[in-house]
Amino acid sequence: MGTVVLGTGSCLPERILTNVELESIVDTSDEWIQSRTGIAARRIGGKGEKTYQLAAKAAERALEAAGVMADEIDLVIVATLTSHMLMPSTACFVQDEIGAKNAFAYDLNAACSGFLFGFDAADKYIQADHSKKILVIGVETLSSRLNWKDRNTCILFGDGAGAVVVGYSESERGLLKSDFGSDGSLWELLCMYGPQSLNPDLEIENHPGSHVLMGGREVFKHAVRAMEDAVHGVLDKEGIGLDSVDLVIPHQANIRILNKLVERLSIPQEKLFINVSKYGNTSAASIPIALDEANNKGLISVGDTVLFCAFGGGFTWGAVLIKW
Ligand code: ACO
Repeated sequence: MGTVVLGTGSCLPERILTNVELESIVDTSDEWIQSRTGIAARRIGGKGEKTYQLAAKAAERALEAAGVMADEIDLVIVATLTSHMLMPSTACFVQDEIGAKNAFAYDLNAACSGFLFGFDAADKYIQADHSKKILVIGVETLSSRLNWKDRNTCILFGDGAGAVVVGYSESERGLLKSDFGSDGSLWELLCMYGPQSLNPDLEIENHPGSHVLMGGREVFKHAVRAMEDAVHGVLDKEGIGLDSVDLVIPHQANIRILNKLVERLSIPQEKLFINVSKYGNTSAASIPIALDEANNKGLISVGDTVLFCAFGGGFTWGAVLIKW
């Protein structure tokens, strides 16, 4: 008995930016990017593909898959750090765009962990009122916030959106356990100053622009350790081992982080869903995009135990375990 996924959807921008094209933008190579990150291409949002537009399209597809009408939705939660405006929220734009006129709507920012934080919040609402139906969306247009002269960061990220409709089921299915953490003391290792940083009263002098800034090696170490701990945490809470998990859908950061995680946790490769080569790191959107793809490929059956884990700026991290 619990919060189940009624439908999934995703939306990727049309434009594909390959590593080979990136070679003419920064001093890099397809070989370097593929060997260090496993990324071959990423999508870049364009006209008609603003953050809320990608999110709304993913939401409409999730609604259709769920057989739920937009006006049946009670709440829209959007996880993003790349809203096209600071106010109103992307969630409010989505609510209007899809016609979810009975829903309230808000954004949350937990960087790459945002979708899992939102999924968990939706579960809490549904546990409190079983009649609720909620849209949880992860969406990013990070291409608009990258420094395209910085080869350390611009090769890593991509744009896209993924969404789920969740509701209550009396069956044995549902969200089983979640385990989250944050450490604000390490914020500088992965951050993005916003336009508000231009206000000198905020005492941020000589701020380095509004782009993604990252200490790659440090992020790598923390990401592996935190996701490993979160996976152990959620499995311990449920009292099961990884052998009881049918599919692991991790945040698609880059292949070397995922390989390290797999090695530390001894996860068999066939239990791991990876699509980072096609889309790069889409931050809050990466898990719902991967979930939609795995679902559409028929890789998840009713009753399967599915594990999600994520790590992102903040730092934030977490793992969620569900019975599909
Ligand atoms: N092309 C060619 N060379 C490059 C590039 C590039 N795109 N980027 C960096 N280099 C160079 C560096 O300048 C450096 O050159 P130097 O030795 O002359 O100084 C050399 O390659 C090695 O750089 P490192 O930073 O040591 O490379 P590393 O092996 O650590 O790989 C990477 C860098 C891929 C960023 C790695 O640290 C990493 O994966 N970090 C995690 C970052 C991440 O995934 N962030 C996403 C957000 S967090 C999350 O989603 C979990």
